[in-house]
Amino acid sequence: SNGGILYGDYLQLEKIVSAQVLQSEIKGKKIHDEHLFIVTHQAYELWFKQILYELDSVREIFISGHVRDERNMLKVNARIHRIVMIFRLLVEQFAVLETMTALDFFDFREYLSSASGFQSLQFRILENKIGVSDNLRVSYNRRHYRDSFKDHESEMLLATEKDPPLLKLVEEWLERTPGLEAEGFNFWERLEISIFKGLNQEKERIEKMPDSDEKEELMAELVKQKDVFTSLFDEKRHDHLLSKGERRLSYKALQGALMIYFYREEPRFQVPFQLLTYLMDIDTLMTKWRYNHVCMVHRMIGSKAGTGGSSGYHYLRSTVSDRYKVFVDLFNLANFLVPRHWIPKLNPNVHTFLYTAECNDSSYCSSEDSD
Ligand code: HEM
Repeated sequence: SNGGILYGDYLQLEKIVSAQVLQSEIKGKKIHDEHLFIVTHQAYELWFKQILYELDSVREIFISGHVRDERNMLKVNARIHRIVMIFRLLVEQFAVLETMTALDFFDFREYLSSASGFQSLQFRILENKIGVSDNLRVSYNRRHYRDSFKDHESEMLLATEKDPPLLKLVEEWLERTPGLEAEGFNFWERLEISIFKGLNQEKERIEKMPDSDEKEELMAELVKQKDVFTSLFDEKRHDHLLSKGERRLSYKALQGALMIYFYREEPRFQVPFQLLTYLMDIDTLMTKWRYNHVCMVHRMIGSKAGTGGSSGYHYLRSTVSDRYKVFVDLFNLANFLVPRHWIPKLNPNVHTFLYTAECNDSSYCSSEDSD
């Protein structure tokens, strides 16, 4: 009224609220619950769009190198945290659609013909941009997931497979973790020495114990622990696991992640540690999304085939797996926890470096700001 833009115009509500076209109504037999089915999918797609918007902005900060200025890490974290919060909502949102019964769904399912969430372009882009690996995907009917998309969409997907995903960008950032330098603090070598010293001391302690079942158990446990750490410090083994998709981060990046994990209380590592936690949250919530979706699908269509042509429930169940976890290495860091006194003490130089936000290393100091 005072010359400004009106609510409905600003939000283009005319387009949004007129986009619920019930196929059952067109076919002359309106089914009440189809409206909820459409609105739910549209709400998901809008939230996917927001996640992609945040994700792209974060990727851009990494790609343009702005992340070397640690002040930008707060922005990265805030946006990644926002993605986490949206995912929480998306995981819960299935409950609304579950107020529809399988019988109600059956009434209009035939009108969907071959339409399926399998053709959700934004969902696939999202998976690719986070870093779901193409060769770890579960294929159905020996078809590639891209085959379900039209030409230009398929090209778009191919492009997102080639762009560096969040996983790669985080990997490069972790590789630069201060303290890893061989000529500096050399965290990795110190850690290896310290852990094997600790394991040997533990062995001597157990050997002194009188023979008993407990002694045998402790010794067996120690042997297992030794194997775990021998494999951690074996780069060839890491590369082998990498080739099988069981590890996803480079050897150097894994070292950086473990360093942040161990020294998370140091002021400079607090924000990075928070970021690693959020990345695990994303993986966890995507897995929960897949799980809630498949439970809903089971109750709606049993184990019948999907409208998109997959085996339905069985296909979807196989996607609730670590194959789709992107930051799996961060979860596995918990395998390498050691008593606090085995963690190498920071020398005064590194300690000061990690304590202050001062720029000791020019690559960590820039006036560049992201948007
Ligand atoms: C009554 C509700 C639903 C049923 C019965 C259902 C059923 C299915 C089935 C059977 C598939 C496997 C592909 C196929 O053969 O069609 C699938 C995939 C998919 N659906 Fe749903 N769905 C429902 C609701 C939703 C909702 C609300 C969303 C939100 C966007 C969604 C998103 C997806 C996505 C992204 C996939 C691909 C998953 C993957 O391949 O990993 N679905 N759905």
